[in-house]
Parts: sequence; structure tokens; C-alpha cells
Amino acid sequence: MHLSVIGCGYVGLVTGACLAEAGHDVVCTDIDAQRIAQLQAGNVPIYERHLDKVLASARQSQKLSYTADAGEAIRGSEAIFICVGTPPKQNGDADLSAIDNVARQIAAEARSPKLVIEKSTVPARTGLELRRALTAYSRNNEVRFRVVSNPEFLREGTAVEDFLHPDRIVVGVEDDSSAADLRAIYRPILERNFHCPVHNGTCPPERPAELLVTTISSAELIKHASNSFLALKISYANVLADLCEKLGADVEQVTHAIGLDPRIGTQFLRAGLGFGGFCFPKDLQAFVHLAASVGVDFDILKAAERVNKERVGRFREKVRRALWVIKGKRVAVLGLAFKANTDDIRFSQALEVVKALLEEGAHVHATDPEALSKAKMLLPAVTYYEDPYDALREADAALVCTEWQAYRSLDWQRAGTLMARRLVIDGRNLYSPARMRELGFEYYSFGRE
Ligand code: UDX
Repeated sequence: MHLSVIGCGYVGLVTGACLAEAGHDVVCTDIDAQRIAQLQAGNVPIYERHLDKVLASARQSQKLSYTADAGEAIRGSEAIFICVGTPPKQNGDADLSAIDNVARQIAAEARSPKLVIEKSTVPARTGLELRRALTAYSRNNEVRFRVVSNPEFLREGTAVEDFLHPDRIVVGVEDDSSAADLRAIYRPILERNFHCPVHNGTCPPERPAELLVTTISSAELIKHASNSFLALKISYANVLADLCEKLGADVEQVTHAIGLDPRIGTQFLRAGLGFGGFCFPKDLQAFVHLAASVGVDFDILKAAERVNKERVGRFREKVRRALWVIKGKRVAVLGLAFKANTDDIRFSQALEVVKALLEEGAHVHATDPEALSKAKMLLPAVTYYEDPYDALREADAALVCTEWQAYRSLDWQRAGTLMARRLVIDGRNLYSPARMRELGFEYYSFGRE
């Protein structure tokens, strides 16, 4: 099938590249002409694991192309994936202006029937508005638009893997033919009939993904409900951590034990600095707003949001208690990305920590395996290092803010010899307190003694 993808962020690029890998002809477009030129030249504009391999492979098989001319992409495809951003507005609502622009563009350019697939995360009922906009702006009464909601469940850092090995594919449709078309688009993935660049053809055996057909509003709701529930789980673990600190319990032992109940599950119960990134904070806010707009009070989500906002303050308190005076101290910050395996620093809790330290007059020496160039543009007052050991040299304290594997396996014996004071404040609970103390460190983390 001829497909187009509008929006070349990580969701759009992963969608385009993986669907090309699955055998479709895909053209990707973006209003950022510079990004398109970069992609045409074979460069990958973002860091996302395995994306370079899928893009290169799709390029070689000539299944994937790029154009800055959205009209050309729209006219040449039967199905169009909308993957544009829906950032939060000041009041927390999702800003849908990019979706609206794309709808008008599709309506103006389409000369033949189009299947319009909304992949961007949007509040429920956006699909209905999208269909209305498509019809209202269409210049040709003969052209029929079908709208589908096909939310993505792609985690940054494992987005390629998540796309090619999904646990479920949700398609919200208005008619059976749209469901059949989406099944055809995803058939190679559902039947695992593609070359997998992640596992090099030897994918682990797993339960085949289910394609769930729902209404458009249900599909839209599933995405927000899923992310909000995960955020709720994290905040639950974080309140537990606070309680453990007061009662002398160990949050890792508690969350491990409760997670073994299959009704709860062990994932997303890691206590620490809390969640960031471009999805959870904004999806949570948008979901609360959506509920309020129809008279439903989603108080528990508001509490999850509040708990998360307070994490940085709690961390700052730990730093203040350990360092006494922060002003003039040299503080090494390990990790700036909002989580490991990404260069994304949007809504990163680590950046909030850095800003708080700078406000207090600390000298911040930061490191991150992937996010340095983005952070440098945003926070020029920080001294940056590629090598974590350089960042730790002469530091009065080390603050762990992102759960990178490189920091999990850091040689603290060596680090200890470089630091001015053996003090580690761990915002991600990466190390065993007993082991750190054995190595001669003062060590503080969340919810453990
Ligand atoms: C999320 C969803 O997981 C994905 O399905 C959706 O499509 C997009 O949003 P992502 O934003 O990439 O993905 O990050 P995720 O891996 O879910 O982590 C979100 C944040 O929660 C990170 O800041 C992470 O550090 C934090 N987190 C995660 C915790 O603090 N504790 C945990 O136990 C898990």
C-alpha cells in the first residue's frame, strides 16, 4: 500500500521506517524543510535506538522516501498517518493546531479517497473533529475521507522494538473497511513477516500481537488512560518511598513484593525523581482537562501530578541536608535526559534539578551519554563533560538523575579517588546502599536507609 507519514519526530520516523521495513511504500514529510534535507542526505536527526538501521535498510530497499512538499505526499498515498506534535497549552489542554493544519492540507490536496490515520496522542473526540474539518475544507465533493485512530504505544529509546513487536495494536474505526485496511497495513507485523533489524532475524518467541478494533473515541481514550495509569503507578511508588523513609522500611523490597502479584505487576514502580518526557506530564494534564470538560473529576490523576512535581523539591532537600550550604559547591550531575537511552530532555526532572542547583549558586558539572548538545543550548551556565569521571573530578557531591546503564556500572572506587568528598545522592535508586557505604560513600536515595 502507498502510505504517507506527516510529521518526522520520533513517532513519525519510527512509523515510516518500520512500515517501509514491513514492505509498504512510504513517503515522509514535515514542515521543517531542514529536517527533510537531513533525512534525504541519509542523516538521522534524533537519537533513537535502531532507528538508523531501519532507516538505512528502508532507504536501500527504496521503500522509504522524503519530501518537504506535503501536497505531493498526500496526493501520492492511499493512507496518511498524522504524527504531528500535540504540545500542552498554558492551561494544560492539548494544542491541536498542528492537527488542524494537517487536516486542512489533506482536504485541499486530496484528489482521491484517503484513509486518514491519527497517530498523534489526542484527547477523545478529536477524530470526530478531524473528520468534520476534512469534509469542511475539501474542495472536491467526490473525495471520501475515512478517519481512523491508531494510537502509538512507543516508548522513547525502545520505539523501534515497540513498533515491530507490539503487545497490542489499537484501531478505532467508523466502518469495517477501515479496520480491514489497517489490518492489511499491519499484517506483516501481526504475522511477524518482516526482517527484524533489532534482533537480526532471530526475534524471541512471544505471544503474537492482537489487533483490537474499537470506536474512534475508545481508541483515543485508551492511549490517555494507559499513560495516565502508568504515571499513577510511578507516583504511587514515590509516595510509598516517602512513607518508607519515615518508617524505616525499604521501598525496593516493598515494590518488588507487591509487584509479584500479577494483578499489580513489577513494572513502573521504580521510585525516585519521578517521570518526565514529552508524553506522561502532558498526557496526564490533558486527560484531567478532558475529564473536567465533561464534568468528570479525575482527582486521583491530579494527585499523581502533584506528587510528581514535588519530587524535585524532595531531592533538593536531600541535597541541602547532605551538603548544608549549596552555594559555591561543585556538584556533578550524572544524567540529563528524561530517562535512559534517549537524548530527549523535554520535561526532564534532571533539568529541574540542575536549575534548582544553579539558583542556589552551585557550580554544576554535568554529563550525559546522549543529551549534552541539547542541554548545552538550554543551560549554558553548566560545565559539560562527555566522560562521567571528568564530571566527578573534585566534586563535592555526585547527583544521579537518569538511570543510564553506564551509571549503573560506574566504577565508584575510581570515582571516589577523584571526588573532593565521597557523597552520592541518587535520584534513581541505582545502587545498593550497603555497597556504597562499604566503598566509603555517604549515600542517599529514595525510600531506603
Ligand atoms: C511513554 C509510554 O510508556 C509510551 O507507551 C507512550 O507511547 C509514550 O509515553 P516514554 O515517555 O518514552 O513513553 O517513557 P517511559 O519509558 O514510559 O518513562 C516515562 C518516565 O517515567 C521517565 O521519566 C522514567 O524515568 C519514569 N519512570 C518510569 C519512573 O520514574 N519510574 C518507573 O518505574 C518507570
